[in-house]
Amino acid sequence: MNFPTEVIERFEDGLQAARDASEPEPTAFSLATSTAAGILSVRTMLLKDFDETGFVFYTNTRSNKGHQLAENPQAALCVIWKTIFRQVLVEGKVEPVADAEADAYFASRPRDSQVGAWASKQSEELDSRATLEQRVAEYEQKFAGQDVPRPPHWSGYRVIPDMIEFWYGKESRLHDRFRFTLKNGGWVRQRLYP
Ligand SMILES: Cc1cc2nc3c(=O)[nH]c(=O)nc-3n(C[C@H](O)[C@H](O)[C@H](O)COP(=O)(O)O)c2cc1C
Repeated sequence: MNFPTEVIERFEDGLQAARDASEPEPTAFSLATSTAAGILSVRTMLLKDFDETGFVFYTNTRSNKGHQLAENPQAALCVIWKTIFRQVLVEGKVEPVADAEADAYFASRPRDSQVGAWASKQSEELDSRATLEQRVAEYEQKFAGQDVPRPPHWSGYRVIPDMIEFWYGKESRLHDRFRFTLKNGGWVRQRLYP
């Protein structure tokens, strides 16, 4: 179910304030996923799209996170904007983006990144840097003189929240926390103790 307008406004306001404060990577976030058995992993990702339907990131679907999301399509996100002392937490289910959406985003990427997506077997063991460079050279040659197509194992995921929390750092640890939770088909808004 789409978020309330307030959620969109609070997220966009935070992103803009972080950009205005020259936050080094304002779209970076920690992404936690887990196996079906509940073994957790976390890593940094970049947010590539955000609207009332969710939070989108792109990756190799055969990576560790890709395998975990296939087993257990749930994720938690943590965005920290240190320059403005704010945090956003998101929890929810994860769905693959439509092929057309992934194609459009892939086509917008720099050519080197597109070739890199073919060359990298993300999260698999690599014997040497030379092997990676060799694979890059092979794919550069393979796609010479043509557009680089999106690899079948490279796509996006949309985190569709059932919880979003906005945390605003304040003096004396008396921070503001606003939590939005999806309950019985509607969004419930609560203020939490810091
Ligand atoms: C600032 C930053 C941004 C990153 N953004 C992405 C990203 O958007 N997509 C991606 O696949 N990996 C990204 N990475 C690399 C991931 O943190 C991670 O190493 C990789 O996706 C493999 O994770 P996995 O083995 O858990 O699947 C980023 C790393 C950093 C430090």
